[in-house]
Amino acid sequence: MAPTAKALLCSLLLVGSRAPAQVHAAKLEVNLDSKDSIKAAAKLVAANLMAAYHGDEPGQTPGILPGPPPNGPYYWWQAGAMWGTLVDYWYYTGDDTYNAEALRSMVFQAEAPVNSYMPRNWTASLGNDDQGFWGMAALLAAETNFENPAASQPQWLALAQAVFNTQFPRWEMADCNGGLRWQIPTINGGYDYKNTIANAVFLNIAARLARYTHNDTYAQWADRTYDWLAGVGYITEEFNVLDGGHVQHNCTDLNPVQFSANAALLMQGVAIMFNYTNGEEKWRARTAGLLNRTLDHFFPDGIMVERACELADRVQCNVDQHSFKGYMHRSLAVTSVVAPFTRATILRYLRSSTAGAVSSCLSDGTCGFRWTTGDYDGDVAHGPAGQQMSVLAALSTLLTDQENVLKGPLTNQTGGTSQGDPNAGQKFQGLAPPKEVTAGDKAGAAIVTVVLLVSFVGSVLWMGMGVSERS
Ligand SMILES: *[C@@H]1O[C@H](CO)[C@@H](O)[C@H](O)[C@H]1NC(C)=O
Ligand SMILES: *[C@@H]1O[C@H](CO)[C@@H](O)[C@H](O)[C@H]1NC(C)=O
Ligand SMILES: *[C@@H]1O[C@H](CO)[C@@H](O)[C@H](O)[C@H]1NC(C)=O
Ligand SMILES: *[C@@H]1O[C@H](CO)[C@@H](O)[C@H](O)[C@H]1NC(C)=O
Ligand SMILES: *[C@@H]1O[C@H](CO)[C@@H](O)[C@H](O)[C@H]1NC(C)=O
Ligand SMILES: *[C@@H]1O[C@H](CO)[C@@H](O)[C@H](O)[C@H]1NC(C)=O
Repeated sequence: MAPTAKALLCSLLLVGSRAPAQVHAAKLEVNLDSKDSIKAAAKLVAANLMAAYHGDEPGQTPGILPGPPPNGPYYWWQAGAMWGTLVDYWYYTGDDTYNAEALRSMVFQAEAPVNSYMPRNWTASLGNDDQGFWGMAALLAAETNFENPAASQPQWLALAQAVFNTQFPRWEMADCNGGLRWQIPTINGGYDYKNTIANAVFLNIAARLARYTHNDTYAQWADRTYDWLAGVGYITEEFNVLDGGHVQHNCTDLNPVQFSANAALLMQGVAIMFNYTNGEEKWRARTAGLLNRTLDHFFPDGIMVERACELADRVQCNVDQHSFKGYMHRSLAVTSVVAPFTRATILRYLRSSTAGAVSSCLSDGTCGFRWTTGDYDGDVAHGPAGQQMSVLAALSTLLTDQENVLKGPLTNQTGGTSQGDPNAGQKFQGLAPPKEVTAGDKAGAAIVTVVLLVSFVGSVLWMGMGVSERS
């Protein structure tokens, strides 16, 4: 966050009751018909995103955003999502300013020697989805021929395979006829919740591994996961994507709240399967159905709204949810490329929504969460990383009309150079607790476990209830 804008905003808020946005004349100017203008705006927005990152400073931990709560606003997973956003930023714009730090971070947080994105430091908030967001970033690096790590370090494809290899054995038939649970450690709050995000991320990675490696085992897992999500009713016949249910109810206590991250990551995975199967009708219908429902639900008037928590009169989205719009724009961009029948429609929505996104930004590249009001919202309490990531993603993904992008994500037969290891991650022997647990750590862990319930999808539980109670 640009300190000047923040300070200015605070002083304005102190002065009077005028809405801060009305006072700010200086808005970010972007010509959406000009690649150079889009790139220049994206560069400003990226700089503001990286102002929230301190992992490159002395004494700080590489790769993470300040947190997790109560030490800072961000859970571990969100930095994984941020590096993925920055890999995409480089892929679409060519600006490699942040590549070296992204590479270092994605390698460091994999945690040697097993390298499966299950670092001991973050087990108290380690869900399958959290692990998977880092895995998706590594897989994107493989699909875009992002610079490969040194030979002595883990490779992008192998890192994604490690996530898959540690996750598929967690598929559990005893409850709900299959599916992954949300959390990984049994003691974490949410271990009893089998939710869409954990399974959508797993499907997303499986589909992309299938396409990258041409190993059909991954594709079978993607198919199985889709069937399970539909069977248990998390994907409805109308292609609404609901949040999850608990094992003690055999997953029949459906939490009906709809978050865009679920729909977005599923849609991307399903579109990749459409492409991998050379256009199989089953996957075409799923892609078309999810796309249609997603656009109708999350893009009223063509601009993205996180409807479950971004209400007309107030925003009650948490820090995690402030980053969701970016995943939607990035997933739509991939879908438009690998499922060309969707392209014309998607490009229209990406453009109108990005126009909204840009209208939330100040001239210095500080952006808001609400994209429909035409003004900066001053919502600094829940970010700024999520807001900046989302607008950065929206701007970057307008640039799909490039030869290398239109060829689609690379595979190991179309020039992808990342080395895989089908057995990656299998040295994993269970979750080791941090070596020396002090009393302070224990108290911290207890707090984190409680706070965890308000994290990512956990909040969705309470929020879902809150929303239905209030509306
Ligand atoms: C875990 O935390 C320790 C102590 O802050 C830090 O030195 C280490 O780099 C962290 N490891 C990871 C993977 O974040
Ligand atoms: C649990 O739900 C699955 C379908 O999701 C069903 O096949 C199974 O019979 C149910 N088990 C019980 C004990 O009701
Ligand atoms: C691609 O990956 C698959 C599965 O790992 C492997 O069998 C195949 O030989 C690879 N192809 C190329 C061209 O590297
Ligand atoms: C395909 O992937 C599965 C699952 O990881 C693995 O067991 C198998 O060895 C892979 N096959 C090849 C040819 O790499
Ligand atoms: C989705 O499908 C419905 C029913 O066919 C249609 O009315 C609507 O326009 C479609 N939405 C989009 C965004 O294409
Ligand atoms: C798969 O993606 C490529 C790259 O965008 C595209 O050229 C091809 O037509 C797609 N396949 C299908 C079946 O749509």
